[in-house]
Amino acid sequence: MTAIVSKLLHSRSSLPRLYAMAASKHGRLFTTDSNKVDQSFKVEGAKVEEAETVDVPPPPTEKLLVLGGNGFVGSHVCKEALDRGLSVSSLSRSGRPSIQDSWANSVVWHQGNLLSPDSWKDALNEVTAVVSCVGGFGSNSHMYKINGTANINAIRAAAEQGVKRFVYISAADFGLVNYVLRGYYEGKRAAETELLTRFPYRGVILRPGFIHGSRQVGSIKIPLGVIGSPLEMVLQHAKPLTQVPLIGPLLTPPVSVLSVAKVAVRAATDPVFPPGIVDVYGIQRYSQHK
Ligand SMILES: NC(=O)c1ccc[n+]([C@@H]2O[C@H](COP(=O)([O-])OP(=O)(O)OC[C@H]3O[C@@H](n4cnc5c(N)ncnc54)[C@H](OP(=O)(O)O)[C@@H]3O)[C@@H](O)[C@H]2O)c1
Repeated sequence: MTAIVSKLLHSRSSLPRLYAMAASKHGRLFTTDSNKVDQSFKVEGAKVEEAETVDVPPPPTEKLLVLGGNGFVGSHVCKEALDRGLSVSSLSRSGRPSIQDSWANSVVWHQGNLLSPDSWKDALNEVTAVVSCVGGFGSNSHMYKINGTANINAIRAAAEQGVKRFVYISAADFGLVNYVLRGYYEGKRAAETELLTRFPYRGVILRPGFIHGSRQVGSIKIPLGVIGSPLEMVLQHAKPLTQVPLIGPLLTPPVSVLSVAKVAVRAATDPVFPPGIVDVYGIQRYSQHK
């Protein structure tokens, strides 16, 4: 018997037969007309035996870095990511916020300024995905720096570190307001261009209008949803009006911070989430997915 099997082993054309014999020996069925070999069998010398069960290593843990994780949107992104079982860290100039909520103990808080790259590069170690919630208002040049340059620095550093996915919380077009807040919108669009260039297949840009929810200011929670929720309900039916030049975009419906956070975390972790720009209607739609 050993001699027969050994002969079979040295003849390539006989291998399928050998596998078929092994299969029938173990009462298993598989085709012999393909090159595929059932992984549960191994052929060793003259022996044909079932392989020992091999432990499959657990999938790598996702490690999410939230830029601006102590801000309004960022803190909701951190909470959503923790709820989904991710390992979460945050980077901002002030580091850990003063809030006492228990979720804050589960975040690793880094302190650094995106405009001073040497102060934060370590925060990217082993990070698999980044969500940037960094942005702000002020003079036009300040707004360009904080919405544009700071995020461009982050996008470049993340690409160099081999981060898999990058999500940027940008902002919807606001028509006339764009002229008043020029630095804000030019900064946002410059960061978007950088993201689409550096992460063409794994970069996602969310463009919400006004975001409502509970905003923590010191020890007080401001319920922006009181105005935002009803407005969102009314304005989501006015989509065609947003096409009116200059003033139309002012009718962009507000969106809940919970929806933005949910879609941001999904975009940062779901390998089939499509890259590119997601407008406010897209955020509403994706946030309804399980
Ligand atoms: N809220 C809205 O209605 C709305 C609407 C549309 C779009 N957005 C966009 O959504 C994003 C988040 O908005 P938000 O309302 O959550 O703003 P926010 O509360 O002011 O948060 C901004 C975050 O950015 C951090 N940050 C600012 N400059 C930084 C720097 N140089 N380096 C590192 N971190 C820096 C801030 O923390 P530190 O101060 O500690 O650095 C803070 O955590 C922004 O990009 C905003 O433009 C917001």
